[in-house]
Amino acid sequence: MSLELTAPAPEEPSVADDGTWLECIACGAQFAPFEDVRYTCDDCDGLLEVRYASPPTWDDFEGRGVWRYNAALPFEEGVSLPEGATPLHEVPRLEADVGVETLRVKHEGMNPTGSFKDRGMTVGVRVAKELGVGRLACASTGNTSAALAAYGARGGMETLVLLPAGKVAAGKIAQASLHDARILEVDGNFDSCLDIVQDLAARGEAYLLNSLNPFRLEGQKTIGLEILEEFHEDYGTYPDRIVLPVGNAGNTSALYKAFRELVQSGALDADDVPKLTGVQAEGAAPMVEAIENGWDETRRWDEVETRATAIRIGNPVNAPKALPGIRETNGTAVAVSDEEITEAQRDLAGEGVGVEPASAASVAGLRKLRAEGVVDVDEQVVCLTTGHLLKDPDAAFEAGDDPEPVPNDTEAVLEHLAE
Ligand code: F0G
Repeated sequence: MSLELTAPAPEEPSVADDGTWLECIACGAQFAPFEDVRYTCDDCDGLLEVRYASPPTWDDFEGRGVWRYNAALPFEEGVSLPEGATPLHEVPRLEADVGVETLRVKHEGMNPTGSFKDRGMTVGVRVAKELGVGRLACASTGNTSAALAAYGARGGMETLVLLPAGKVAAGKIAQASLHDARILEVDGNFDSCLDIVQDLAARGEAYLLNSLNPFRLEGQKTIGLEILEEFHEDYGTYPDRIVLPVGNAGNTSALYKAFRELVQSGALDADDVPKLTGVQAEGAAPMVEAIENGWDETRRWDEVETRATAIRIGNPVNAPKALPGIRETNGTAVAVSDEEITEAQRDLAGEGVGVEPASAASVAGLRKLRAEGVVDVDEQVVCLTTGHLLKDPDAAFEAGDDPEPVPNDTEAVLEHLAE
């Protein structure tokens, strides 16, 4: 099985370009990486993964941000703003309140467009240039479209985004709009948008930059690499567990791949790999359903609903990569309510860390798993927060307190404060 944590480093096939190739995770078919545009396997339609003849070790990394890790990426540099090097916040009050030995928060909202998607796009848009494609496109719950629009603009390329009408937070549409993407609002959910973009890509109308594109996930691996390096610097160990929100399960797949490659090169002991723990909203939880039932694939949920619109997804396309990742690392998956998500968003805000609702799902999930005793009191945990508070100003207003109108007069203001 090609997705086992302890699988040995692969042999370089003749189709490889400079030690890099594409391989189908289902049937093992191998393809040259940059000769043709291809998102899935020609033979069986399975998901593709980027493979390297020489997986990276710690000594290979230098510099800052995503491209510090170019030894783990297909290129030396990309179309960059630049991205990565996000903070790993201490949150002492929340740590004590949740009741774990260590809690750190990796705030991916601090990337250039305010989400982790920038890490994928710096690589994905670089590959698009290599392939010489015209228009770039994605389906999106918002953040992917903001990142694609910005990186497309940076690379001087045309961008097209398909969004579920009425279900994308205001900040994200504003970004896509100002960075000059052509925005189509579809009368359907994210999964229908992705179906259409896949059809457009198959007809050669656009280059697809959703996380189905294996090169996107290469950039997102650097979240895992940064967490391990920084955590080890601070504690001399690796975190026991990484908790993250799950939509299409791209990050779950990417972090697992980062860890597998480190194990292959001998840089990381298989026993030191953090338990990947995915969190979904109760109204959109096909991954949780698959983990709980021991299924090898997810069931498509046609009806999905949650306040955390970024993860309002019923058909996680990367499930075949992510389910083995959760299982092989002894992780788990859990669903949380919208109320629990908002509560966690307030908790993080109380530590000065402003996140959008989907991001807070990680903390809500950790709290729930700790209460259930699935997470132990002596665990060292990193929660991933994937997007910035300003992405979804409406949700922030709802979670926070209303402004108080006062007269234009100091005495009246003092009186009001004393009330
Ligand atoms: N958190 C945020 C803030 C997101 O925007 C997304 C995905 C996820 C978590 C889920 O990540 O798909 O890797 O499991 N947003 C995509 C988008 C779908 O279109 O912006 P995943």
